[in-house]
Amino acid sequence: MSKRYTITAALPYTNGPIHIGHLAGVYVPADIYARFKRLTGNDVAFICGSDEHGVPITIKAKKEGVTPQDIVDKYHAIIKTSFEDFGITFDNYSRTSAQIHHDTASEFFKTLYDKHEFVEEVTEQLYDEEANQFLADRFVTGTCPKCGNEEAYGDQCENCGSSLNATDLINPKSAITGNVPTLKETKHWFLPLNKHENFLREWILNGHKKDWKPNVYGQVKSWIDDGLRPRAVTRDLDWGIPVPVPGGEGKVLYVWFDAPIGYISATKEWAAKEGKDWEPYWKDKDTKLVHFIGKDNIVFHCIIFPSMLKAEGSYILPDNVPANEFLNLEGNKLSTSKNWAVWLPDYLNDFPNQQDVLRYALTANAPESKDNDFTWKDFQARNNNELVAIFGNFINRVVVLTNKYYDGIVPEASEFSEVDTETLAAVKAYPSVIESSIERYRFREASQELMNLARLGNKYLADEEPWKLVKTDEDRTKTIMFVALQIASALATLSEPFLPFTSEKLKRILDTNANTWADISTKDILLPSHHQIGKGELLFSKIEDKTIQEQLDKLEASKKANEAANKEVEPQKETITFDDFTKLDMRVGTILEAEKMPKTKKLLILKVDTGIDTRTIVSGIAESFTPEEVVGKQVTVLVNLAPRALRGVESEGMILMTETPEGKLVFVNPDTTVNSGLQIS
Ligand code: 2FM
Ligand code: ZN
Repeated sequence: MSKRYTITAALPYTNGPIHIGHLAGVYVPADIYARFKRLTGNDVAFICGSDEHGVPITIKAKKEGVTPQDIVDKYHAIIKTSFEDFGITFDNYSRTSAQIHHDTASEFFKTLYDKHEFVEEVTEQLYDEEANQFLADRFVTGTCPKCGNEEAYGDQCENCGSSLNATDLINPKSAITGNVPTLKETKHWFLPLNKHENFLREWILNGHKKDWKPNVYGQVKSWIDDGLRPRAVTRDLDWGIPVPVPGGEGKVLYVWFDAPIGYISATKEWAAKEGKDWEPYWKDKDTKLVHFIGKDNIVFHCIIFPSMLKAEGSYILPDNVPANEFLNLEGNKLSTSKNWAVWLPDYLNDFPNQQDVLRYALTANAPESKDNDFTWKDFQARNNNELVAIFGNFINRVVVLTNKYYDGIVPEASEFSEVDTETLAAVKAYPSVIESSIERYRFREASQELMNLARLGNKYLADEEPWKLVKTDEDRTKTIMFVALQIASALATLSEPFLPFTSEKLKRILDTNANTWADISTKDILLPSHHQIGKGELLFSKIEDKTIQEQLDKLEASKKANEAANKEVEPQKETITFDDFTKLDMRVGTILEAEKMPKTKKLLILKVDTGIDTRTIVSGIAESFTPEEVVGKQVTVLVNLAPRALRGVESEGMILMTETPEGKLVFVNPDTTVNSGLQIS
C-alpha cells in the first residue's frame, strides 16, 4: 500500500567537501531507501541541505581570514554539485542560511518560549578573557568526564558520543587562544530534557522502538538511564539565527537547535516549489519519518529533536533513526582536519562515470553494525570481482549473444525445462528478499542479494551453455536466451536503488523501461519475444593496480603535506651579533658535476664552481634529485665552513636547502642566473 515518507539525511556542515565516510554512513543508504520507496510507489519527500551555522564554520572563516558567509557559500555550492553528480536524489537540498529556515526556526523557538517550554537562567559559562568571547561547543576542548578523552568538545565527546555541557569538561582550554577559561555569568534558554524523560522512556524504551538498530537503541537507553539534564539551546555568538525573544539580543540559537528544524524548512521550501502542502509530511500521523544519520548524531535525533517536536506539540516523531557506525580509511580514522579522506569531488574527477562503483563498494562494506574500514584494494576487488566479473559479465554475455544469434531480437521460448521454471521462479522471489533487507535497513545484505541475482544469471548461462547448443538445438538455445533476457531485465529494475547509473544504462541497452519493482514478482514476461534490444556497451571496466596505487600515493602525499603544514615552526635560535653574521661567507655557486656516493642512499658528490675555486661538496640530497637534475643548477653555498670528511670524501662547504610540505628538498637559489661567486648578504 502506498504510504507517505519523509526521509531526511543529516545536514552536512559546510566547512569542507563530502567524503566517503559521510557517503557510507548517511547519504548512500538514505538514497537507496528513498529510491526504493519511490520505485515501490510511495509518496516520498527526501530532504537535506547545508548546515551553515555552528562554531566549526566560524573557526574556519577566522583561519582563512574570510567571513563565515564566504565559507558556507563556497562549500554549499561544492557539496550540492557533488551530491547531484553522484546521483543522490534529494527532492530538496536547501541551506540553513535561507530566509525560510531563519523564519521557521525562529517561529519554532518562539512557540516553545510562549508555551513556557524553556527554562531561562543566568549561569556561569566558560569565557576567554583574551578573545573576549564565551566558549561553547567547538570553541573549547578538554577532558571528557565520561571516558577521559582529552580532546572532547564543549558540546560533545567524539570518542564516547556523550553529549556534554562546556562546563562539564575537565581542564578546559580555549580553542581560540589556548588559554584556560574563566567563568562569567550569562543568560540562556534551556530545554529541560529531564522534563521529557518519561515521554522518551515510554516512546523509545517501552514503545515499539525496540526494533531500532541495536547501536541506536543501546545508546539512547544508556543516556536515559543516566538521567537527562536541561540543555542550553542558545549561545553567545554572532553567527547563527538571532534569539527572537526579549533579552536575546547578541545571542543566537544553538546550531543543534536550528539544524534539525532545517529538515522542516527544506520540506516547506520544496512543497512551495512543487505546489504541495508541506504539513502532511510533518504532521500527519500516517507519514513515516525516517532520519538517516551517523552515530555521532544519535543523541540529537533521538533525544533532543524529539523532545523539541513533542514540546511544540503538532509534529510527528521519527519512526526510525537508522544511524550507522563510522567508516575508517586504510586503517585510520577519517579526518577532515588531518586531510585523511577520499573526497567526493576528487573521486568524481578521478573516476569519471564510475559513481556506481563507489556506491557499491560503500554499500557492500557499509558500517552498519560496527565501524568498518575502506581500503582501495577492497574497492578494486568489489569492482573487478563482483561488478565486472559477475554483474557486467552476465549482462555482456546476454546482450552480445542476443545480438549475435538473433540480431538483438528477443527470441521466442519453446517449452521450459525444470531449470528454466525454477530459475524464473527464483527471479520472482528477489524483490521481496531485497525489500525485506531494505525494510530492516540492512543495505549491505540487500546489495549482496542483488549480486546473487546476477550470480544466478551467470550460473544459468554457464550450466545451460547456449554457445554450445546453438550448433545443435536452435529451439533450446532460444529458450535459454529468452530466460537469460528475463533475468537481465529484472536486474535492470532491481539494481536502480543501488546502481542507478548502471540501471539506466541497462534499461537503455535492453530498450525497456516498462517494469516496476512489483512487476518483477508478478509478471511472467518482463521482456517479450520480438522486442528489439540495443547493442552491447560495457557496464563496468576493470580497475588496474596502477590506478589503485595512484590513489594510495595521493593519500600518503596529502597526509604528509598536512603534517608539514601543521608542523610547529622551529623556535628562533639564540641571537647572534652582526659580527657573527659577517663571519658566514655565502656565495652563489654553480654545480658542474654530480655523482652518487657509492653504497649510500642519500649522498651526492658535487663539483661546485664557487667563483673562488672549483671544489667538492658532499650533499645529502640524493633522495630528492638525480645527479643529472642538479648539474648546471645555481645554489647558495656556505663556502667558509670547516671542511669535513664524509665517507672518506672531503666536503668543502655546504649547500643551503629547504624542504617542501611534501618532504622534497629544494635549493635556495637565485631566481635569475648570475655569476658564480657573488656574495650573499
Ligand atoms: O554532524 C553533522 O555534520 C551535522 N551538521 C548534522 C546535522 S543533522 C541535522 F539535524 F540537521
Ligand atoms: Zn567521552
